Amino acid sequence: MIQIDVKAGNADKQREDAVVLPLLEGRKLTESGNELQEVTGDTIADFLRKFDLLGDFGASRTLYDVEGMHGHRAIFLGVGNEKDLSLHKLRVLGAKMAAKLEKSGVRGAALYLTELEVKGASLADKVQAVAEGVWLGLYKFDKYQTKTKANKRALRTVNIMVTSRRDLDDAEVALSKAKAVASGTIFARDLGNEPGNVCTPEWLGDQASALSHKNLKVTVMDKAAIEAAGFTALLAVNQGSAKEPRFIVLEYNGGKKGDAPVALVGKGLTFDAGGISIKPAGAMDEMKFDMCGSAAVLGIFKAMMEMDLPMNVLGVIPSTENLLGAAAYKPGDIVTSYKGITIEVLNTDAEGRIILCDALAYAVEKKPAEIIDFATLTGACVIALGGQATGLLGTGKKLKKALKESGTHSHDRVWELPLFDEYQKQIDSKIADIKNTGGREAGTITAACFLSRFVENVPWAHLDIAGTAWNMKGTDISPVGGATGAGVRLVVDYLSRR
Ligand code: BES
Ligand code: MN
Ligand code: ZN
Repeated sequence: MIQIDVKAGNADKQREDAVVLPLLEGRKLTESGNELQEVTGDTIADFLRKFDLLGDFGASRTLYDVEGMHGHRAIFLGVGNEKDLSLHKLRVLGAKMAAKLEKSGVRGAALYLTELEVKGASLADKVQAVAEGVWLGLYKFDKYQTKTKANKRALRTVNIMVTSRRDLDDAEVALSKAKAVASGTIFARDLGNEPGNVCTPEWLGDQASALSHKNLKVTVMDKAAIEAAGFTALLAVNQGSAKEPRFIVLEYNGGKKGDAPVALVGKGLTFDAGGISIKPAGAMDEMKFDMCGSAAVLGIFKAMMEMDLPMNVLGVIPSTENLLGAAAYKPGDIVTSYKGITIEVLNTDAEGRIILCDALAYAVEKKPAEIIDFATLTGACVIALGGQATGLLGTGKKLKKALKESGTHSHDRVWELPLFDEYQKQIDSKIADIKNTGGREAGTITAACFLSRFVENVPWAHLDIAGTAWNMKGTDISPVGGATGAGVRLVVDYLSRR
């Protein structure tokens, strides 16, 4: 991650390669731009008049070697109408601008974005949003491209400018929060983007172990330990794979001893071929992302440790591949779970709920205050919500309400689907306690119904990130495409307010 600092000072005095000034719709400059215009004479006004620079959101133009200015470039960045600005738009501007600066070989830049007025946002909020945008917008996953020339003139530093020195303390705090959030998100993206031949359950366990710290104890169970513990549903899904499963437990003790932890449970399916109910070949490669739930959990732990959050958090990650080996579990099999509930397997591709049910039952035993699970669980959720919102279901009323608020604030958004009792009968089985599919209707909800059988009365929220965890075309703040780190900003925001 590049260096970002917060600074105060006028635009003409900055010695960075580039000074970035917002331009509002109608060619209006903001405070710093107007000041710069005053000290530099007509150059800027002429430039703005000559070019069709209207202040459209995200469009930018560069003016070189302005007399009276220390920096080499003045970049005018369109930000649209000030009334329409939001914190997320600042994040997007940070991401877009950083990517552009990097491409044009700029080494250092000063961004004057926090002087923009955003309804209901403090300066700290704005600094955090811009910084997150810069870090996330520069994200790349190119470690496997042997011919990629390292960008020798890569962007090295960005200064986020604030108007008054008095704001610097608040801005510093916001910056360090942004850094934790970004590094957690980037960690989640890195884990998600690794191919299935590298990111195996064993490797995922090693990545979790590497997070160990004085406040964080990580236990990784191998197959023998999983057998001994009795995580039989996880073992059933693992039967078709040549690779051992892992069951990963993280215990973060930032709070008082004995305080009930928040439990975070993440689906760690390192490759989902569907098993005997095999998936079609098209885009099957994307099922390497089926461990993004576990990546979100690990990313949250990373951010939480960097922020030193004063609370206890339990992480539980069941991990396996879902393949078609000779010993694979089959449609029609009846599996007994860790909790004792029997499951009729109608479709081996509905494996996520099967591995999660053991993890949820284990989490419940630890008497958590609440449980949040993260899973790329259903294709139906992709159809319902696309890539713009994570599916939210569950029994924790206060928890769900707070997650919705955090989703809005972090722009890592959620949308609730109902868990009406009537849906539960769709997973009744004639020969076992429950079956692992509920038919075509309400697929996201019946998957959550399945999970609900294992959480007892612990307040619980289920996050179906199937549509949000990765995006092959890229997004405004994840331009390269691939894993997005969905769930990290959301739950770090939630935990830090809790
Ligand atoms: N990992 C998939 C869900 C998924 C599909 C996520 C597409 C993202 C994109 C999950 O294991 C799965 O295969 N679910 C099935 C369940 C069905 C068989 C009841 C699905 O959604 O098709
Ligand atoms: Mn599946
Ligand atoms: Zn899956």
